[in-house]
Amino acid sequence: MTSLLLTNISSLVTNDPAYGGLLGELHDAALVIDGTKVAWVGPRRDAPAADGALDLGGRAVIPGFVDSHSHLVFAGDRAEEFAARMTGTPYSAGGIRTTVAATREATDEHLTANVSRLVTEMRRQGTTTVEIKSGYGLTVADEARALEIAGQFTDETTYLGAHVVPAEYADDPAGYVELVTGPMLDASAKHSKWIDVFVERGAFDADQGRAILQAGIARGLQPRVHANQLGEGPGVQLACEVGAASADHCTYLTDADVDALASAGVVAGLLPAIEFSTRSPYPDARRLLDAGVTVALATDCNPGSGYSSSMPFCIALAVRDMHMTPAEALWSATAGGAASLRRPDRGRLTPGAQADLAVLDAPSHLHLSYRPGVPLIKQTFIAGRPV
Ligand code: NIG
Ligand code: FE
Repeated sequence: MTSLLLTNISSLVTNDPAYGGLLGELHDAALVIDGTKVAWVGPRRDAPAADGALDLGGRAVIPGFVDSHSHLVFAGDRAEEFAARMTGTPYSAGGIRTTVAATREATDEHLTANVSRLVTEMRRQGTTTVEIKSGYGLTVADEARALEIAGQFTDETTYLGAHVVPAEYADDPAGYVELVTGPMLDASAKHSKWIDVFVERGAFDADQGRAILQAGIARGLQPRVHANQLGEGPGVQLACEVGAASADHCTYLTDADVDALASAGVVAGLLPAIEFSTRSPYPDARRLLDAGVTVALATDCNPGSGYSSSMPFCIALAVRDMHMTPAEALWSATAGGAASLRRPDRGRLTPGAQADLAVLDAPSHLHLSYRPGVPLIKQTFIAGRPV
């Protein structure tokens, strides 16, 4: 194993509160990578020798973004639907069926190339871990192949056979739940770490969601939930009841929902690129943070409700429109994402963590929201290697 010293770092975000503040930020710092892991962080003048050294010229280094929610396995796009929304047509989950039809038609090679393109796009924007869901196949074979393709790019794969009831089951939703909890789960479980369900009017109700999550849990999958996106509803409470890692969206919450998230220790995944692209009100991050809820920020990159792969964009929205401080937003996009995916080796730059990081073309992480829309990611490292 070879070691590499990254030195002349103006600001190093460790996410270790032992170094002070929420972000454990070190100034005039250095970091040593040994193989795939962080071996040392500290003041530049104290840095140990390493096999190689890279002078970062006074740039900032942050943990790589952990994007804990995306839907990358799909074909086609829905740009026209977006354009119609911008002139007043409301978002409805019904558009999912358009992408399902295109995805079923697509070859494995086409789907794989599309995921590869999007993962590359994400890495260029500093993302080092991404969760990828199925959910645009909705047949036994199409869900299993989506997960197999996702697994070529990440360990964080999520079975979302319960995205919507597909058209051919419109008259038999109970039959579709049987498929999702039976043969489709059988074919998908070996490719999945997580199971997810879209609990929403027009998708699945609490009883259906519970049955689907419990079936997945019985097969060793861990639950996460699409909850309270389009209105108040039972999604958050269900996530808390089953011990989900996260309840994502959380756009419409009652006080009881906020209390339940705080006491169950379920991460609230906030996805502001969706509110941006659907012209919806942003979730109330302050209310969640003030109640002691752990917040993750993620892109939810998908062709329908929001087609951004950019974590810096989400950070800028969270700071400008959700009243998160720049430090809170960066924490939620890194350590918060790691908490959402139950990955204690990610989202921090401290000895023993995987060496996943982004070098910014800026002296401080503040520039992520101070300079929105500017490509500030100079270099991304995954497991100690530039990508
Ligand atoms: O997370 N809410 C459900 N699923 C996606 C949207 C999928 C689509 O519109 O194609 C979401 O927003
Ligand atoms: Fe989603």
